[in-house]
Amino acid sequence: MKRMRYNSAMKRLACLLISLSVALASPIPSEGRTQQEESELTARYLTILLNVGRLVVERNQPLINDPEQGDKGFTPDSFERDVVAEFRQQTGIDLKHLPPHLPALTKELLPLLLESGKQVVADAQLVINQRGIGYKNFIPATFGSQTSRKFSSRSRVTLKQTTLNPRNPKNAPDAYEERVLKRLATQPASNEPLAEWVDGGRTLRMMTPIYYSEDCLSCHGSPAGILDISGYPREGAREGDLAGAISVQIPVSPP
Ligand code: HEC
Repeated sequence: MKRMRYNSAMKRLACLLISLSVALASPIPSEGRTQQEESELTARYLTILLNVGRLVVERNQPLINDPEQGDKGFTPDSFERDVVAEFRQQTGIDLKHLPPHLPALTKELLPLLLESGKQVVADAQLVINQRGIGYKNFIPATFGSQTSRKFSSRSRVTLKQTTLNPRNPKNAPDAYEERVLKRLATQPASNEPLAEWVDGGRTLRMMTPIYYSEDCLSCHGSPAGILDISGYPREGAREGDLAGAISVQIPVSPP
């Protein structure tokens, strides 16, 4: 079920990219792309890579939460291996040997985001390998928040997971994100990224909506107000409700 939803999301993503006339993984010379197209492509790849990192954490969740096991072997290197394999599967791109035809900005920022994720996993090793504790608050959401913040502090590009009533105040939406999230909440679910050039065409804003699946409801579901395992009050969300969005902001210097 989850896989199906995911595949249809990938199909829609493929349509979008074709409509931008920049198909994934096809060797297009960089001269053939405008700076705007390069930024849009970079924003898409960053969103996919952040989501892949979240997925890898999710897949390792039972291991991470195992109170019996000390050393888990969920290291920055094993994280990287899984991310590289999953990213290749989703995009055809090998993060360890980036194809030359990718935009320079993409080639600069994908390694930086991968590195930021590895550092978040490295910083959490003590917690992850703690014996005797089950839930450790190392989950896709905390991984995603910390990785996007680390990445954004080292680059002029801002990456963020946000929502209208965030659990973590650091994920609070800015005025633009709030407007788009309010609009998304009233529209039928769609995994298509929304891209818009603002600031007189100088800044790309891309928001990719995230919806709650059944897996999320143990924390974000009903009954609303009851504390979940992470200590936050549940939102009372239902499957398919808008959970938030991955937001990317890329300022473009005038030519
Ligand atoms: C184990 C409990 C748990 C589960 C399961 C869970 N979340 Fe969360 N979620 C959290 C916590 C805790 C935060 C706050 C993270 C932080 O500190 O940045 C959060 C934050 C978020 C945010 C960022 C906005 C905010 O509130 O700070 C989004 C979006 C989100 N979750 C979506 C999801 C989705 C989608 C799923 C299912 C795929 C999911 N969550 C599953 C606990 C959970």
